[in-house]
Amino acid sequence: MPCDNGPMPTHTVTGATGYTGRYITRLLLERGDHVRTLTGHPDRPNPFGPGVQALPFNFDDPAALAHSLEGTHTLFNTYWVRVSHRNLTHDRAAANLHTLFTAAKAAGVRRIVHISITNADPNSHLSYFRCKALVENALRESGLSHAILRPTLVFGKEDILLNNIAWMLRRFPIFPIPGTGQYQVQPICVEDLATLAVDASEGNDNLELDSVGPDVFTYDEMVKLVRDKTHTKARLLHVPPSLVLLAGSALGLLVRDVVLSRDEIAGLSANLLVSNSTAPAPGRIRFSDWLDDHASHLGRHYASEMARHYR
Ligand SMILES: NC(=O)c1ccc[n+]([C@@H]2O[C@H](COP(=O)([O-])OP(=O)(O)OC[C@H]3O[C@@H](n4cnc5c(N)ncnc54)[C@H](OP(=O)(O)O)[C@@H]3O)[C@@H](O)[C@H]2O)c1
Repeated sequence: MPCDNGPMPTHTVTGATGYTGRYITRLLLERGDHVRTLTGHPDRPNPFGPGVQALPFNFDDPAALAHSLEGTHTLFNTYWVRVSHRNLTHDRAAANLHTLFTAAKAAGVRRIVHISITNADPNSHLSYFRCKALVENALRESGLSHAILRPTLVFGKEDILLNNIAWMLRRFPIFPIPGTGQYQVQPICVEDLATLAVDASEGNDNLELDSVGPDVFTYDEMVKLVRDKTHTKARLLHVPPSLVLLAGSALGLLVRDVVLSRDEIAGLSANLLVSNSTAPAPGRIRFSDWLDDHASHLGRHYASEMARHYR
């Protein structure tokens, strides 16, 4: 059964024991709100203790899902799958979110703050970006009060992609860059993204915001920055994207993970991880400042997507 409401609002965060959801939950608890979580791992150790009740997603049981959402002021949705695996494809994840939004409406949830991605596009040939756009449309069409936040790369201590760039820079003499490396990225700190999400729960107006950081780098510049700040010396080698994919697959066999997917390389190379908006970037924390504080730990251990979600 869901927790009792008490005087402060109760919010539901999908993935409060995951990455972005953990930072959102921390901010909500700090201001005295109640939080419950929907997760694929309700039995996983919960860093917030019994105060944050963990309930299963129940995507295949909409009535139970709606029951779990009863009494929720804002549903913060971080649920998504990075890479399609077995029968959990991006299309499946999008269908799950359609079920979640329908259940939220049935449960009387007041607002949804949804984390999407920059340049989500219903016509994209990349299933990640196409299905993210379908989810955004489903939320708009739900009639629910909502905010859609669109981050790019999200950097933070628990991030997988940047951590593993640093991990490779620390271990190998050569770091392969797909193509020219001149495509752009605009990373945002996970703490900034969490603040934007919590702020976006206020009010009723619908909001759509590219949630990007203050710096735009070329991919080359970003990798060089990580290399400098981690005091590593790997040589950056520009190679065809297919070769990076091949190297990633070989490494994936070694670490039993999907290091980088074909779609991720294509999205990166197509400048999809940078905002096209002319509005000022809402993120405040500079990647280089964050690296000054965290580079000594970054990439010390490989961070596995598969271990985090499937093992
Ligand atoms: N991380 C980034 O650099 C980045 C960049 C751009 C956009 N985003 C977007 O930001 C949102 C949050 O990302 P995040 O990195 O913070 O995610 P995360 O914490 O790893 O996962 C968020 C939620 O999705 C669930 N989930 C993730 N992979 C799953 C899988 N393979 N099978 C079943 N459930 C899965 C998690 O389940 P559990 O509760 O069981 O852990 C959790 O509830 C996502 O919508 C993502 O698309 C992230």
